[in-house]
Order: sequence, then C-alpha cells, then structure tokens
Amino acid sequence: MAWQQYLDAEQARFVQELLTFVRIPSVSAKPENIPDVVRAAEWVAARLTAAGVEGAEVLPTDGHPVVCGHWLHAGAEKPTILIYGHFDVQPAEPFDLWDSPPFEPEVRDGRVWGRGASDDKGGMLVPILAVESLLKTAGRLPVNVKFFFEGQEEIGSPDLPPFVAANVDLLTADMIFSADGLQYAPDQPQIVEALKGLVKAEIVVRGPRSDQHSGLHGGGIANPAMALAHLLASMKSADGLVTIDGFYDDVVPLTEADRAAIARIPYNEASYLAETGAPAVFGEPGYSTRERLWARPTLDVNGLTSGWQGIGSKTVHPAEARAKITCRLVAAQYPAKILAALAAHVQAHCPAGVTAELEPGHGGAGPFLVPSGHNATGIAAQVLEEVYGKAPYRTRLGGSIPVMTTLLEVLGVHAVMFGFSHDDENLHAPNEFFRLDAFRLGQAAYVRLLQRLGA
Ligand code: BES
Ligand code: MN
Ligand code: MN
Repeated sequence: MAWQQYLDAEQARFVQELLTFVRIPSVSAKPENIPDVVRAAEWVAARLTAAGVEGAEVLPTDGHPVVCGHWLHAGAEKPTILIYGHFDVQPAEPFDLWDSPPFEPEVRDGRVWGRGASDDKGGMLVPILAVESLLKTAGRLPVNVKFFFEGQEEIGSPDLPPFVAANVDLLTADMIFSADGLQYAPDQPQIVEALKGLVKAEIVVRGPRSDQHSGLHGGGIANPAMALAHLLASMKSADGLVTIDGFYDDVVPLTEADRAAIARIPYNEASYLAETGAPAVFGEPGYSTRERLWARPTLDVNGLTSGWQGIGSKTVHPAEARAKITCRLVAAQYPAKILAALAAHVQAHCPAGVTAELEPGHGGAGPFLVPSGHNATGIAAQVLEEVYGKAPYRTRLGGSIPVMTTLLEVLGVHAVMFGFSHDDENLHAPNEFFRLDAFRLGQAAYVRLLQRLGA
C-alpha cells in the first residue's frame, strides 16, 4: 500500500518533527509562555498545510488560540469527521526531577522524552501524518476531514464554549475523534466510553485580621487552619463517602451489566499499589477500585495552605487557611449544580468563630458517557482490532477533556477517543514520554479508520 510505504519512508522525518514540536514550551498555564502557545499554533497550522490540508489557520479566542483546517473533497455522500487534539502542555516543574530537560526532547529506548510528547503533541501529530500519507500518495481522502486543535485544554478550555458556539459551521461534523486519548497497553487496545467532568474551587477560611501571636491569642479566638480541617472533614466520611447534600443525585448508576463488563477487564491490586506507591486502596464503600476510578464521582483536596510553611517553627495563629479542591464528575452530574452544592455545604458547616467562603475556579468540564452502540465507536473498535490483532477493552477514564462536552452540547455529536498514548507515560509528571511504536501504529490506525469510514 502506497500510504504504508510513505509512512515507513518518512518516519525518521516525522520523529524529528515531533522533537521540533516538543521544543516549543507551549505551557498554557503560565502567562510568560503565551508567545510560545502562539508559536505552537503557528507550527501546527504550517504542518497541516504541508500535509496538504486546506484552509489551515490560527484562529483567535479570548485566550490561547485554536487551529483549524479541512479537506472536504470526498463528496457529499461521504461522512465529515472532526479530529481533535491540543498543542498546549502542562507546566514541567519540578525541572530537577527530569532525566533530560523537558523542552530539549531526546529519543531514548524507542521513546521521545519531553513535556507534551505524550499529552498531546505526539498524539495530535498522528492523524496529521496519516492524512499526509494519503494525500501525498492517493491525492485524496476517503472521507471529509476537519481538524480542530486547541491551545488551552490543560487549563480547562475557558474560552472555547463561546468559540464553539460562534463557529458551528466550521466545526460541524457527523463524527468526532479525539487524538487525545489512551490505549490500555502497548499490546491491548481500548475504547474509552466515558470521561469525567471537573469542578474546581478554593475554600477560604478567615479568622483574625492578620497572623497573631499564638500564645497571646491561642484559646481566645478560633484557628482558621483547625476550622478548615473540620470543614473538610465534614465533606467526606472517614471511609470515603462524599457527604455533601445532593452530591450523588444525578449520577447515572452502574447497571449489573456495566459492573460485569468492568469486572471482566483484568485488574491486579498489587500492581496498582506498586504503580502508585500507596499503602492501600481506598474510596467510596460498595464499589470496586476500578468502578471508583472509572465511574464514580470524587472529591479531593489538591492543595492546603495556612500559617508558617518555612523551615522550623513559628508560633503563629494564622489569619487564613485555604484548600484547593476538585470534584471529578460522572454522567449526568452538572458542574454548576455541584458547585452550588459545595458552596451551600461550606456555608452550612462553617465552624464557629471563623468565616468561610467558596471561590469557584474557572475552566471546569462536563462529564460524558458515550451511548452504547454508538456508530463511530463500533467502527473505531473494528479498526483497533485490525491493527492490534485483539479486540479492544471497553473502558472509562478519570481524566477530563472539557471541550468534548462543549462539542456534544453545541453540535450534538459524541466524541470517540482515538489516541495512542498510555497511562504510564508520566502525563503531567516529570519524565513524560511517548512510545515511537505507538506513534507509528497510530498513523496506520488513523489511515484505516478513514478508509473504513469512507467504505
Ligand atoms: N489528556 C488529558 C485527559 C485524559 C487523561 C483523559 C487521562 C483520559 C485519561 C487532558 O490533557 C487533561 O489532562 N485534562 C485535564 C483537564 C483539566 C485541566 C480541565 C485533566 O483531566 O486534569
Ligand atoms: Mn490531553
Ligand atoms: Mn493533560
């Protein structure tokens, strides 16, 4: 097959291009990297054009830009698909834990090491290369293809809801495939049937006007750090049940069939514990670890601050205590409703002697669950079976991709995850890497996906 020969012949160049892409420190969370996110967008637009994609351009939003492009000459009777990915990355700190610098990528052991190699620069390059291999050899694609890449996924895509609403014609498609996605293992594909949503907030507990001498005032006034501890403890029972009124109200319960399907996928508790280094598994009673990870909502503390944080001690009675919290949501919970429930809980359970407030974070996400029997899921599963020689597992994941829910709400189309990263590739952590075998296999898989969709 000409496209396969093209992919083989050009693979070394593709790897070099991935390294060039990873060298751009497009960290969406840091204001000083705003020009780098723009540079990454320009790189993507140029790369789309080089692949033969038409109309590739960088489009502004109120924040980091978007890149779109298309090839729409397959004919009106062929489906139009939208391929998604993101070119922004997470901050790389702490730098000293990296074996090679995060933005000076290296190839070692058949892997590309660098921030964003796996999430999602390697991933989003895959479908571009697949399309290039077809356009350079056959001169055409089997289906109409639109590309939609963003530069603000890692901060929750705060500016994309208005962008999507204002660009329906540009984005509308029969099916959506996300090139930001995971396979179960290098030799085991998966179809991801659900992603979680996300709500972020900060709890602020305030006491005295400023920090006080703890001997002069301890015992006279309430301590915000202690009050925050009580408040947090009131949100979750000691055995892991979230105790906020209404928290579980809208959760789509797992059916017996769902639970049986999850239980069929091999799970080894010892290796899970080894992977995380935690002494034991823990969480909501009545559910298996996998069920909690994949299909139950969570409430977690991500950061705690109060009082003296330096070396040694300081006998201080803090003025304030803060907790950054997040909830990962499952279908059909609503981020706004959960935020309201959190705020109401904070008011109702504010300990004596302090004031407490919930500051909502921006950039949340709605959860989604692909309906079983979804057409694009079936086709993606056939392609994965063809390229891996194994039927994919049906799984769910705890991560979020905010714009997938926006696209569902605005276009009415469910996305199918069709990405080739793996959960052991240190996403968001030091020493992120992407497997070159998966990079290559993903390219062939995307070609076959387009072919099957066009058949
Ligand atoms: N690629 C991940 C999402 C992901 C990770 C999905 C693992 C499934 C499994 C994405 O880039 C990500 O990290 N999303 C953030 C979104 C948040 C910042 C709004 C997340 O899930 O924390
Ligand atoms: Mn991602
Ligand atoms: Mn990410």
